[in-house]
Amino acid sequence: MINVAIDGPAGAGKSTISRSAAKELGFIYVDTGALYRAVGVYALRNGIDSKNADEVGKSLEKITVELKFVGDVQHVFLNGEDVSEEIRLPEASMAASNVSAIPAVRAFLFDLQRDIAAKNNCIMDGRDIGTVVLPDARIKIFLTASPEIRAMRRYKELVQKGAKDTYEEVLSDLKIRDYNDSHREIAPLKPAEDSVTVDTSGLDLEQSVNKIISVIKEKMS
Ligand code: DC
Repeated sequence: MINVAIDGPAGAGKSTISRSAAKELGFIYVDTGALYRAVGVYALRNGIDSKNADEVGKSLEKITVELKFVGDVQHVFLNGEDVSEEIRLPEASMAASNVSAIPAVRAFLFDLQRDIAAKNNCIMDGRDIGTVVLPDARIKIFLTASPEIRAMRRYKELVQKGAKDTYEEVLSDLKIRDYNDSHREIAPLKPAEDSVTVDTSGLDLEQSVNKIISVIKEKMS
């Protein structure tokens, strides 16, 4: 199987770019952030402090998380319920960032990610795909952009969905998440040594997708 690992900070355009590139290559696209978000949603719904490793760890025995593909669209299920929309709420983003720092949560989601990659040609995006989940992935890309540009992209998405968040709030949330994601002890966000870094700050979507596809094709040949 051909596995492409794409890691990078929130809002770098990983999911949009990976989805388009996967479609073009005929691979499935796996968004691993959705898994951490589903655990975050469980914590939010059940009044569990998403930073409390003991409480979150204990709750894992009551949780099942599954990914299913409807055509090429990924849906995430929490205890059998499709939570694909709820996981996109800003509070779910922060809860996901918190639970993702808990080793038991990472261990809980590890096999699921490995199994999908073993069975499918895929582009898998996340924070630790090239470093931890798929260290032998054939192609590894670290996708990034400046915090201001990433926050502006996220802000526009939220406004389209009718959210009331301000740009400053989005930027400040993003900086907190960047800090959490890259400073946690376990599987921190960092480029794999054998990854290619792509900065999308000055690129539009089409240019970014073309760049990613050309990196992938070059490595495949
Ligand atoms: O990519 P995203 O914003 O949907 O991810 C949500 C959170 O999950 C993010 O703050 C970091 C965490 N995450 C992770 O730790 N490892 C991954 N492979 C994917 C996401």
